[in-house]
Amino acid sequence: MYNLVKDILNPKNWLKLILNPRKISVIYERIFYYPGLKFGYIKSTFYKNLIIKSTIFFARRNKRFKEIFFSEINKDSLKLTKYDFQKNFFNQEHVDNLKNNGIIVLENVLSEKEHSEIKKDFINVFDKNLAEEIHNQKSESVIIKKINKKFHEPRLIKISNVISKEIYGKTIKPTHHYLYHKPVELPEKQCPGDNILHVDRFLPNLKIIYFPFNVDFDTAPFKYALGSHKISNKYLSFFLENKKWIFDERNVDANSFLKNVIEVPAKENSLVVALTNGFHCRTPFRSKNDRSTLFFTYPNFNLLSLFFPNN
Ligand SMILES: [Fe+2]
Repeated sequence: MYNLVKDILNPKNWLKLILNPRKISVIYERIFYYPGLKFGYIKSTFYKNLIIKSTIFFARRNKRFKEIFFSEINKDSLKLTKYDFQKNFFNQEHVDNLKNNGIIVLENVLSEKEHSEIKKDFINVFDKNLAEEIHNQKSESVIIKKINKKFHEPRLIKISNVISKEIYGKTIKPTHHYLYHKPVELPEKQCPGDNILHVDRFLPNLKIIYFPFNVDFDTAPFKYALGSHKISNKYLSFFLENKKWIFDERNVDANSFLKNVIEVPAKENSLVVALTNGFHCRTPFRSKNDRSTLFFTYPNFNLLSLFFPNN
């Protein structure tokens, strides 16, 4: 918030806006950004807790959030379930499973032809060395590259639309990222927000990851603490009473959420659907093989969507 106010008051930014009025969308996005864990970059416990309590108040009013994130967990049915998704029909069983565990895996999601097109996207770009390396990347031990490529695979978009409607209560246009990871040293150094268990937000959150190639035990499979997405009083206390502002497994108070941690090796052509306000990460690489993923995230669900769930 402090940075936002500072940037809005900066005359240089006004000049940039006059020269390029389309930049107004950046201001809009920053004002209505769905809150994460930076809390305006001001280390004020009062401000942090005000943001948490007020936004959680609104999140509870979203019918879908209430059913999925604020409901009781059934501890007896905590498990990872994988579904063959050839029929492409996201049904109530999938929703119930996601609601209780915070994660499901859908396999064989695309036809052979569609799948091979996405594989080609990755293979062509890396063969021709066209991918852009991400500097200031999260992990020193891993090279991360991204492909700046428009995405138009209708079936994946359709699946994303159906799932986002189930979670957010309305269809949210996804943002996509093609990502490539290649380890350069083993064992990897610990990297918060990446290869150790963390939450993306304290508010309901969805992430969908498509795996075009097999990801086995050694090539950094996704990791998830089953049921940790439930926003209980204990969950909220973790954020409200968090004196060190550490929202991942480095904080011993996180241990009580990490009792059912699983690794999720994925077959090629599968989707991992995860509620990432629950504890998750990619497992550190155990071999020097690479890993390609296509991420769908939902920043288009913003504060306005939170305040006005029916619009
Ligand atoms: Fe994350």
